[in-house]
Formats: sequence, C-alpha cells, structure tokens
Amino acid sequence: MTLTDRYAVFGHPIKHSKSPRIHKIFAGQTGQSLEYSAQDVPAGQFPAAAAAFFAEGGKGLNCTVPLKELAWAYADVKTERARAAKAVNTLALRADGSILGDNTDGVGLVTDLTVNHGIALAGSQILILGAGGASRGIIGPILEQAAASIVIANRTVEKTVNLAAEFSLKGPVTGCGFDALKNRRFDLIINATSSSLSGCMPPLPEGLLAENGVCYDLAYGNEPTVFVRWGLEKHALKSLDGLGMLVEQAAEAFFIWRGVRPKTQPVIELLNAERL
Ligand code: ATR
Repeated sequence: MTLTDRYAVFGHPIKHSKSPRIHKIFAGQTGQSLEYSAQDVPAGQFPAAAAAFFAEGGKGLNCTVPLKELAWAYADVKTERARAAKAVNTLALRADGSILGDNTDGVGLVTDLTVNHGIALAGSQILILGAGGASRGIIGPILEQAAASIVIANRTVEKTVNLAAEFSLKGPVTGCGFDALKNRRFDLIINATSSSLSGCMPPLPEGLLAENGVCYDLAYGNEPTVFVRWGLEKHALKSLDGLGMLVEQAAEAFFIWRGVRPKTQPVIELLNAERL
C-alpha cells in the first residue's frame, strides 16, 4: 500500500492559516498527491510534536508564529539563508532521515515585489521598520538584489544596531530610531513590526516616502492594514500587504519538498478575490 505523503503547518494560533488551502491548490495544479493539514502547536509542545510528526511518516512542515526560532533549533541541517535568518519556516525530511531547515520568507517577499509587482530593488533606498525576527528573515535576500542601502528603524534602537552589524558584510545596512528618519527619503518602506496587527503605526516623520515610492506590509488581512492605509495616504505608487509573500513563500516550500514549482499568480488572484 502506498501512503499519501503528509505535510502540515504548525503554529499557535493556527485556525485562520491559509497554508492548507494554498498547498492543496498547488498539489492539484501540479498533479502531486499529498495531504496538508494545520495543527495548533504551542511553543512548549513544538519539539515533541515535530518529532511525532516525522516519526509517523510526515515529510515536511511549515512553522509559523511563534515557532520559527524553535524550528531553527530543531533542524539537523540548515540552509545558508536559514542560518542568517536565525529562523526556519520550512522543515523537510531528507533521504538520510535528517531534517533540513530552510527559510523561504525573504525569497517570498523578493519574488512578490520583483516578479509579481515589477518593483526593482537594485539601486533602491530601502527602509525596514522593526528589528525582530520578521526583519531578520528579509534583510539578506533584499541585499542580494543589490539594494543601494537598507536602513532598519525600530522603537528599541539597540536592536537595529545589532541587526545591522550582523548583516554588514553582506551589504550597506545601518540602524536607527524612528526620530532619526527626519529628512530621509526611501523608495521602498517595508513594515516588519508587529504593530500593524494591533492597528498601531510606528511614529514616522512626514516626507519619508520618495515620489513613486512603494509601501509593503509583511502582515495581511481581509481589510487593508493600518500601514497599507498609511502608504495610500502618502500617495505610494503601490501600497501592498503580505498576501503575495505568503503565497510565494509557500511556493518555495512546495518546491523544496516536491521539486516542482507551482504557479502562484492564480492562487494570489483567488485569495485576493475572496477578501473583496
Ligand atoms: P517578529 O518575529 O514578528 O518580528 P518580534 O521579534 O516580537 O516579532 O518583533 C516585533 C517588532 O515589532 C519589534 O521590532 C518591535 O519593536 P521593539 O523591538 O522596540 O519591541 C516592533 N513593535 C511591536 N509593537 C510596536 C509598536 N506598537 N510600535 C512600534 N514598534 C513595535
């Protein structure tokens, strides 16, 4: 008897995750036979739950809030981008039984910006708001696109300085507080704080967004986030949320597991249509 390959997303909370839906569509589209479920796993239960999943024949996991650092620690082998991100959102069982940890968030963001929205990052002045795990995951992949510079701004300034120092060998990154942004202009402003989720905006000075600048919120929701609305008020060329990034990071995980690249555009269109 051949068992269907099993995958899952672990997180807490996980009820509203779109990942099972996205991966089922990818599987249908590419003719891959697999199961993908969502499992509510609080942080304290993660190592045991992951071990049980793989012991019972599971082939791969996605890990979301608050498990990405724990998944990083769980992986036997890590890709370079996962090592730099210090967070893992994709675990894959390898032929020798070991578990590979990867981070597809950064590449998901870059693909959404550059391929889906035609926004060139090369030569751009980029501002990242926030200095937590979400920021850490995207800095390396953005620098690889030859951005002119990245400024990381955060409420707790010390964190930006440490984060900038970690990536300084990869490209021009500096850190500062929000008040030091006065008189600066950016082509792309990315919100990687968790403040959007609670409906708050970081205190940003006027005139921050360059003409034809773009805003991107890593968070997404059925309604435009407070940061997406801020971008629209500032006449951004585009003010986007993270739905496209969600689908692109999933496609990259699917590729790692199955060796096939699904088409993302129809899935993004479908999910976009559903929230209208
Ligand atoms: P994640 O893994 O999602 O990045 P995190 O590591 O807890 O989560 O980081 C959350 C980020 O959002 C931090 O940069 C945090 O700022 P501090 O480092 O100063 O705590 C930022 N953040 C959260 N709420 C915020 C708010 N109301 N205003 C500004 N920044 C906020």
